[in-house]
Amino acid sequence: MNLADTFSVAGRAAIVTGGASGLGLAFAEVLAAHGASVTLLDMDAAALEREVTRLVAEGHDVQGAQLDVTDRAALDAAFDAVAGRQGRLDIVFANAGIDPGPGFATLSPAGERVDAHRIEAAEDAPWLKVVDLSLNAVFYSIRAAARHMRPRGTGSIVVTTSVSALRPAPALNASYAAAKSGAAQLVRAAAIELAQDNVRVNAIAPGPFVTNIGQGHIRDPEVQKRFAAGVPMGRVALPDEVKPLALYLASDASSFVTGQQIAIDGGASLPAARF
Ligand SMILES: NC(=O)c1ccc[n+]([C@@H]2O[C@H](COP(=O)([O-])OP(=O)(O)OC[C@H]3O[C@@H](n4cnc5c(N)ncnc54)[C@H](O)[C@@H]3O)[C@@H](O)[C@H]2O)c1
Repeated sequence: MNLADTFSVAGRAAIVTGGASGLGLAFAEVLAAHGASVTLLDMDAAALEREVTRLVAEGHDVQGAQLDVTDRAALDAAFDAVAGRQGRLDIVFANAGIDPGPGFATLSPAGERVDAHRIEAAEDAPWLKVVDLSLNAVFYSIRAAARHMRPRGTGSIVVTTSVSALRPAPALNASYAAAKSGAAQLVRAAAIELAQDNVRVNAIAPGPFVTNIGQGHIRDPEVQKRFAAGVPMGRVALPDEVKPLALYLASDASSFVTGQQIAIDGGASLPAARF
């Protein structure tokens, strides 16, 4: 067996939600570079147009469609369109997400508490928005994927969760930890159900990556330093670093792996003793 062949996704049809930026764009790039036909679904029309044009010019088989993944009807229609056009749907990355806003403490080693962000003062709307996107839309995506994958007896679904699914981050709104850990448990539940039909469901739990999330605030060197202080490896990561793990989970290289959440976080989720 040629090991490299097991990582091939040539001829496979893939969807990446939130594919026009950051980690989603990295997933799309590595799939396309290894021969998949990739459809990016994203609500940012300008970024979508720019990235699809660039990837096509580089010789890749990439398409884009604008939608809000929390719009169930639009999401179902987009998945149906890809499966109809390609005659198959092999790989889905349910990745779209947003910064949930600040938590009860600042992003600093001291983690000073911020009275204005106490849970007693939290509004419903931001909570509902984060849960709708980072939990409900993951369910819509897994459901839509399963409709196409189960009948063919093959498929790989990969959900982007977060270190927050493993350890709540005091500097991030609690909605994020709740939605992301809910998504992680949904991954396990769906994996058990779909296993007998050879549809695998896994999660990638990133630590701090330099992307455009939260208006790209992590590009600010000072913010980067504060994130890095919480990472045992002492740094943040670039989106390219997630590509090998994404290709592994998408391809037959992980043919016996399902229901797993793999952290890629420089050790940020390790339960370190404080002495
Ligand atoms: N960057 C990090 O440090 C980090 C850490 C942990 C988890 N994550 C998760 O990674 C995923 C990707 O985030 P990123 O950091 O690449 O951010 P990003 O902002 O660079 O990219 C997210 C993309 O999702 C799209 N999007 C947002 N809401 C959408 C919606 N309702 N419908 C369709 N598209 C939508 C955006 O337009 C954008 O193109 C998210 O789920 C995020 O929670 C990121």
